[in-house]
Amino acid sequence: MKYQYKKEFRHHLVEWFNNEKRDLPWRHTSDPYKIWVSEVMLQQTRVDTVIPYYNRFLEKYPTIQDLAYAPQEELLKMWEGLGYYSRARNLQAGVKEVVERYNSIVPDNRHDISKLKGVGPYTAGAILSIAYQKAEHAVDGNVMRVLSRVLHIEEDIALPKTRKVFEEAVEMLIDEQYPGDFNQALMDLGSMICTPTSPKCLLCPVRDYCTAFNEGNADQLPIKSKKVKTKKVKFNVFVAVDQEGRYLVEKRPSTGLLADMWQFPMIEINENGISDETFQQNYNVEILEYEDKELLRFKHIFSHLTWEMECMQVQVLQKMELPDDVVFLTIEQIKTLPMPVPMLKILNVLN
Ligand code: ADE
Repeated sequence: MKYQYKKEFRHHLVEWFNNEKRDLPWRHTSDPYKIWVSEVMLQQTRVDTVIPYYNRFLEKYPTIQDLAYAPQEELLKMWEGLGYYSRARNLQAGVKEVVERYNSIVPDNRHDISKLKGVGPYTAGAILSIAYQKAEHAVDGNVMRVLSRVLHIEEDIALPKTRKVFEEAVEMLIDEQYPGDFNQALMDLGSMICTPTSPKCLLCPVRDYCTAFNEGNADQLPIKSKKVKTKKVKFNVFVAVDQEGRYLVEKRPSTGLLADMWQFPMIEINENGISDETFQQNYNVEILEYEDKELLRFKHIFSHLTWEMECMQVQVLQKMELPDDVVFLTIEQIKTLPMPVPMLKILNVLN
């Protein structure tokens, strides 16, 4: 792009942002810790969903020290429902490093900030540009879509190596004076105007500089190869009640999917279908099935995996010694534990 066009492009973009930007809670601060929290929450999660979580989170952890030393179970409870829970533990680990190694001051350069746990190239650039006004790229899916159209970039955005192409594009275009506004303008343009389908080109502040608009093919960009189908796994979920009306729950292992979150026991259904025996053996209990035992059935879709859940209520007749991290609790007690969304769905029908 010619020098003069670049100048005009960033001017129109930033001016549009100043007039049209969404009023979001993290836009009322320049505290790098708060920007960091918002950017981690916004990964893979929509703005409308994030807002109440962000507000509650910062009420609970107003300073970086508050988060650094928060109990993990409490932290997971604050994150409950947002998904991708490893984001929360990585954020805490990163924040703790800042408190302990950087005297609670979030580093203001890409080299140091990128070494923090959970801070990838996007998050680093977002914090540096928004909180510190550094001219650094922050390339997410929205930014790739916008720039693929403006600059007619045909590289496959599903491939990790493509990010580099867009980082260089941002470096070439970025407004050195208002880098935080520039980056956020690209994000807002991507979610409000330059949408995946039916982009609203007639409302776009930079359509005069957009190759795809001029060629009339904005809706054919970006190029994104289809991801492979997600794997399906079927489970029986056992909602097991004892004589006192307490329910059997367990903590998941501390690594892997939904680490350290709580759940009703689930057993993968194999070819023979029946999992009662396995349940009784694994949890050291004896159960009686109700006549009308099925509570509910549903699917839960993760990014890479689908759980097909068949939940049944069973009566516990006998308990022997329970395995580690398995307990009988009342509904009120269970509600204080961090549980993933599919388990909250089950909990919801028990009230
Ligand atoms: N998505 C991710 N970060 C964002 C931000 N700072 N503003 C708007 N949308 C975003």
